[in-house]
Amino acid sequence: FVRLHTRVWIPDPDEVWRSAEIIKDYKEGDKSLQLKLEDETLYEYPVDLQGNELPFLRNPDILVGQNDLTALSYLHEPAVLHNLKVRFLESNHIYTYCGIVLVAINPYEQLPIYEQDVIYAYSGQNMGDMDPHIFAVAEEAYKQMARDEKNQSIIVSGESGAGKTVSAKYAMRFFATVGGSASETNIEAKVLASSPIMEAIGNAKTTRNDNSSRFGKYIQIGFDKRYHIIGANMRTYLLEKSRVVFQAEDERNYHIFYQLCASSSLPEFKDLGLTCAEDFFYTSQGGDTSIDGVDDADDFEKTRHAFTLLGVKESHQMTIFRIIAAILHLGNLEVQGERDGEVCNVSSEDEHLSNFCSLLGVEQGQMQHWLCHRKLVTTAETYVKSMSLSQVVNARNALAKHIYAQLFNWIVQHINKALHTTVKQHSFIGVLDIYGFETFEVNSFEQFCINYANEKLQQQFNSHVFKLEQEEYMKEGIPWTLIDFYDNQPCIDLIEAKLGILDLLDEECKVPKGTDQNWAQKLYDRHAASQHFQKPRMSNTSFIVLHFADKVEYQSEGFLEKNRDTVYEEQINILKASKYQMVADLFQEEKDAVAAAAMQKGAPRISVRSARPAFKAANKEHRKTVGHQIVKILNLYTPVNEFEERVTVAFIRNIQKQLQERNDPPQLLLDFKHTFPVLFPFNPSAITMDSIHLPASLNLDFLNKV
Ligand SMILES: Nc1ncnc2c1ncn2[C@@H]1O[C@H](COP(=O)(O)OP(=O)(O)O)[C@@H](O)[C@H]1O
Ligand SMILES: [Mg+2]
Repeated sequence: FVRLHTRVWIPDPDEVWRSAEIIKDYKEGDKSLQLKLEDETLYEYPVDLQGNELPFLRNPDILVGQNDLTALSYLHEPAVLHNLKVRFLESNHIYTYCGIVLVAINPYEQLPIYEQDVIYAYSGQNMGDMDPHIFAVAEEAYKQMARDEKNQSIIVSGESGAGKTVSAKYAMRFFATVGGSASETNIEAKVLASSPIMEAIGNAKTTRNDNSSRFGKYIQIGFDKRYHIIGANMRTYLLEKSRVVFQAEDERNYHIFYQLCASSSLPEFKDLGLTCAEDFFYTSQGGDTSIDGVDDADDFEKTRHAFTLLGVKESHQMTIFRIIAAILHLGNLEVQGERDGEVCNVSSEDEHLSNFCSLLGVEQGQMQHWLCHRKLVTTAETYVKSMSLSQVVNARNALAKHIYAQLFNWIVQHINKALHTTVKQHSFIGVLDIYGFETFEVNSFEQFCINYANEKLQQQFNSHVFKLEQEEYMKEGIPWTLIDFYDNQPCIDLIEAKLGILDLLDEECKVPKGTDQNWAQKLYDRHAASQHFQKPRMSNTSFIVLHFADKVEYQSEGFLEKNRDTVYEEQINILKASKYQMVADLFQEEKDAVAAAAMQKGAPRISVRSARPAFKAANKEHRKTVGHQIVKILNLYTPVNEFEERVTVAFIRNIQKQLQERNDPPQLLLDFKHTFPVLFPFNPSAITMDSIHLPASLNLDFLNKV
């Protein structure tokens, strides 16, 4: 039974949700609801008990505009969106809490809320006493670290372009200000200077964000006993290597390439053989090489300045730029195919070949040979085989990606060295800024990894909101009932469990004649029945994953190669013999091992290199595939503390099951499809439960009243 005048939200193709009022009592069995929209038009809303359920209820006006979403009586998608909209449009507030989670709207314009005096205003205050703000969250972390003697982490998540990196930077600025050491070391300035460098080498223009981070980053800021910053350490994850050799329409490669091209006329760079970015294959595939409002030459100066501030020597900086330039030349090599592309060669006259070799200090004849040939090792003998045109191009691209990734790691290591301190660290605050959920016209292995990471983060978010609310209930001794909890474990299982998407991918990489298409077929065979998996009707090569955030169609083409991530040992050996120490160092095995060990103790190496053809791949080899690494890395991330040990996913499932078995299933969340974790509001601000109009049709009697 839904009473006259009850206000509801109905879906709308243009406005997403529209408000309406019920103008005739509704009782069970009625085929429709009689509604009046806000513009007075009448609307009949069909209700059939199988499919179309009753619409979402609107919150009482008095609650709307709350700075904490958990204060709302009804917490579903339209309620959340409406509340955020009212706050943003009517009061220009971009921040709103949802418990201890801060929800931020990207204003896409500079608001006057980040000045130094705002930092001081938030410093030392309680979260509840001030308007929601990223500084309030940072202050809370800082305070709790000091008060409870506990390390803290701030996790920033959201879709690509949502404002994660900007938020992470503001949080770091807050710590640099309130934790300023006042000593000579200037460590805060160095922590902040790491940003322009990481953005130059790890950010790029995508169709969603002109400055999109193409890697994940976790920075730990270390404090001493007096809670002054003494150092920092950064870990990076899953650099999108494919961008080095390929950019989709309207996208760019990493900023550093364009910055260097824009500065190529500087006298110190005349040996690099660079011209403008349009002239290079690796920087021009996306079309326009410039970004509105960005001056690449200007940014280059900032990058250089930051390198200097972080103590990267001039000579090392020069080597970095030589390597960047060499990668561009590698991409412009002309590979000539003969006999239908079965045999190829690169001319010794090719100026890009000679530039590549001289910039990296390697032997040109050797490079020329091994770009087009490979060594095959069988148990009986070793022989040299010509590669086909497509193999040469693939191997060349793999080499470019590998060189870039090694350089990226080298730079991260150096930044860490500059931020390292010998002083004993008392505590730390971590800031995690990963790349956000994304879906493009064409989605490949990279999007798959990114979205998988976000799926894991969302799971964290769910258990966190759930966990804290529950802690609150327990503290207050309030009997409680969980109403609904979107559990994305089934989707995570689809991806990472045994015989899941990644496992089958690893398997297919081991099969001698494995192909992307065969793999896709295995996915169809195995997962057709999964709730989170679909086969597109019109394709035999792509597959769809129903993520928490969206349905994404992935093209299987290229997955195997990207997962194997093969670079040919012969080419690497030439680089190892470079006459430039830094170049040679980049490719030393030990270095890799050390770098990897620094990233995760006891785990296998991060950098993947298999010189052997796939048919010889030993068991050990396949365990190093990219997919396998991702599972490890992401699982490392899932912090398990005491509480989470007690409240397991199984426990949550159990509650869900119990609720489902009830004859009167809870209906506060009317729609299961909208996957916002909904909890019964534990403390609906000043309003008592009795004053909230709860229609009897919702069967909420079983809920414990607060
Ligand atoms: N708080 C903010 N105020 C003003 N502009 C912002 C803010 N957050 C983000 N932006 C704008 O949005 C763009 C994308 O933000 P970014 O943090 O790079 O997104 P993400 O890291 O989530 O992909 C930024 O370059 C900036 O122009
Ligand atoms: Mg970002």
